[in-house]
Amino acid sequence: MNAIDTIRQRAPHLQPRLAVVLGSGWGALTEHLTDAVQISYAELAGFPQPGVAGHGGSLWLGHLGAQPVAVLSGRQHGYETGAVDGMAVPLRALQELGCHTLVQTNAAGSLRPDMPPQSLMLLSDHLNLPQRSPLVGSSGSERFVNMVDAYDPALRAHARRVAQAQGATLFEGVYAWAFGPQFETPAEIRMLRLLGADAVGMSTVPETMLARHLGLRVLALSFITNLGAGMSPEKLSHAHTLQQAQIGSASASRLLADIIASLHNGVEPANAL
Ligand code: HPA
Repeated sequence: MNAIDTIRQRAPHLQPRLAVVLGSGWGALTEHLTDAVQISYAELAGFPQPGVAGHGGSLWLGHLGAQPVAVLSGRQHGYETGAVDGMAVPLRALQELGCHTLVQTNAAGSLRPDMPPQSLMLLSDHLNLPQRSPLVGSSGSERFVNMVDAYDPALRAHARRVAQAQGATLFEGVYAWAFGPQFETPAEIRMLRLLGADAVGMSTVPETMLARHLGLRVLALSFITNLGAGMSPEKLSHAHTLQQAQIGSASASRLLADIIASLHNGVEPANAL
C-alpha cells in the first residue's frame, strides 16, 4: 500500500492542511496535539528510517487548536546517506493529502553573540552552502523554483505577532546549511559570519526547496543550542545540542503550537503584512 492510502486508512477523518517537520529537541510539540494518531515511518512506504538520536521517525496526525495538522517527527539529513532528497516522499504525500503550508523546525548554532543559546530564530532566508538540491533529476520548468521569499513573509509576520503578544523574543535571520555531520571549524564560522549568515545547521534547506517545488508556503524556526564553534569555550557535541534543546523545548513548542493554532484556516492571507 502506498503511504497516502495508509495515512487515509489510519486517520480517515482528518484532512491535514498544514505539515510540520520537527527537528532536534522539538518533539514536545506532539504533546499539544489533540485526537492524535501516530504512524511509524516504518509503516509508510518511501518514508525514511531516521538514524539520529533525538529524531523520532513517526508521522502524527491531529489538531493544534482547530487546525488539522500532520507532524513529521524526524527527518533524514544529507549527512546520513549523502542523498538530500530523503524527505521528498513524505512531503509529496502530505501535499497530496491537502497540506498547503510547511512549518519547519531545527536546532542551530548562532553566529551572533547577541543571539545566545536558548534563543529562537525565524528564518528569513538561507544559504545553500553545499550547493546540493533534492530537485536534481526532476523535470519540467517547475524545477526552476523561484527562491525569493521562500520563507513566507506573511507567515513570518504572523509568527512575530504571536511572539510579541506573548512577550517572547523572536530573532530573525539567515540560516546557513552546513552538510555535516562534523561541526564547523572556527575558521568556517568566521567565514559564515562574513557571508551574512546568522545561524548554522545541518537540515531544513533541502525540505524548503522540496516544499517550494510543491507549491507549499514555508515557515521555519531555529532553536539556538550553542554559539558557533570558536565563539565560546563550550565544546560542541550532539549530546550538548540535545541537552540544550531539552531545556528550552517546552516553551519553544508551546509558542510554535500557538503560532500554528492561530493561523486563520491554516494560512495567513498574503497581504497580512
Ligand atoms: N553547527 C551545525 N549544526 C548545528 C549546530 C552548529 O553549531 N548546533 C546545532 N546544530
